[in-house]
Amino acid sequence: MNPEGTGSRRPLLLLVGGGTGLVGRALLEELGPDHQIRSVHRAPSARELSLGIDCIRADVTLVRDWGPILEDVDIVVNVAWYRQGSDRRFRPLAEGLTRLIKAAEARRIHRFVQLSVPTAPPDIEAHLPYMVRKREVDRALAESQLDFSIICPTMLYGPGDKLLTVLLRTAARWHRLPMFGDGQYHVSPLAVRDLARIVRRELSFGGRTSVRAGGPVAWKYRDLTDLVFTAIQRPPRYLQLTPRGGMRLARLLEVFGSSLLYPYEVEWLVSDRLGLPPYVGLDRPLEHVEVFVREEAQRLAPARRGSGGHEPPRVRG
Ligand SMILES: NC(=O)c1ccc[n+]([C@@H]2O[C@H](COP(=O)([O-])OP(=O)(O)OC[C@H]3O[C@@H](n4cnc5c(N)ncnc54)[C@H](OP(=O)(O)O)[C@@H]3O)[C@@H](O)[C@H]2O)c1
Repeated sequence: MNPEGTGSRRPLLLLVGGGTGLVGRALLEELGPDHQIRSVHRAPSARELSLGIDCIRADVTLVRDWGPILEDVDIVVNVAWYRQGSDRRFRPLAEGLTRLIKAAEARRIHRFVQLSVPTAPPDIEAHLPYMVRKREVDRALAESQLDFSIICPTMLYGPGDKLLTVLLRTAARWHRLPMFGDGQYHVSPLAVRDLARIVRRELSFGGRTSVRAGGPVAWKYRDLTDLVFTAIQRPPRYLQLTPRGGMRLARLLEVFGSSLLYPYEVEWLVSDRLGLPPYVGLDRPLEHVEVFVREEAQRLAPARRGSGGHEPPRVRG
């Protein structure tokens, strides 16, 4: 791609939230080769520096003047957000991102891509600071004069994710998983690599769009967790909980400082709103989750054997 006014140089993309998070890492891989990237987040990584990325160490909540950071920028992609916290945490982040949107508008930035989330149950949309502030940022962008894509992916998976990797590790360690209700609600996991390709495609458009993005298959949650057990060669065993019980468990984990699962995530999951239809329009088929689950299980296998497991040796292929 070659946005207007950039001549033959590689477009300068401002990555807000940087290249160390789940989505940021995939974006660096996908867009790094043909974009110049300026990365803004609180703790730039050695990897970014080794890739020759222009790293700016900054906290979005504290940036008052985005002007210097936006100098020469063609496109903004924002991935910065937190997974949990109170309004004291989310409000300054939303304010900082709104200042960024206004500054991008004043500078007539070519395109702004915002990573958002799908629709959640009404009480989460109305009251949870995570969501209320997220929607505030989405609205600020939609009400600006900028060309934009607001991308709302469902649950993402990839190395180091908080979904399948956590399920695999939990099942491998405890030989059972919690099941919330009947498990018949849906989720259509999307590979983070596919999301990065979606971002590339959305960058190439003009106009103002919001797009929901699911993976190729809407799985019943219970079938997905059964797949996890198959991959680690264990019979499926569940700690059966009601959805409310699941939320209580998540709250308890949170109290003990764990970030494995938050109560709103259980509520959202069981509300059956995460089985989004597949994103259409990529030049390659969307990845299937089975491949990732199998490969991750193989990666875990040596650790399981080391911790006293009795799995047969496997050859990675
Ligand atoms: N993961 C999913 O399943 C999923 C699904 C749907 C939508 N999304 C959305 O996709 C986006 C990225 O998600 P992710 O899973 O990649 O999150 P992540 O792994 O937590 O990464 C978020 C990044 O934001 C940066 N960040 C956070 N607060 C910041 C601040 N105040 N100033 C500057 N940078 C800040 C963090 O870097 P530092 O800590 O170094 O600052 C981190 O690299 C989020 O908007 C999320 O809501 C994710």
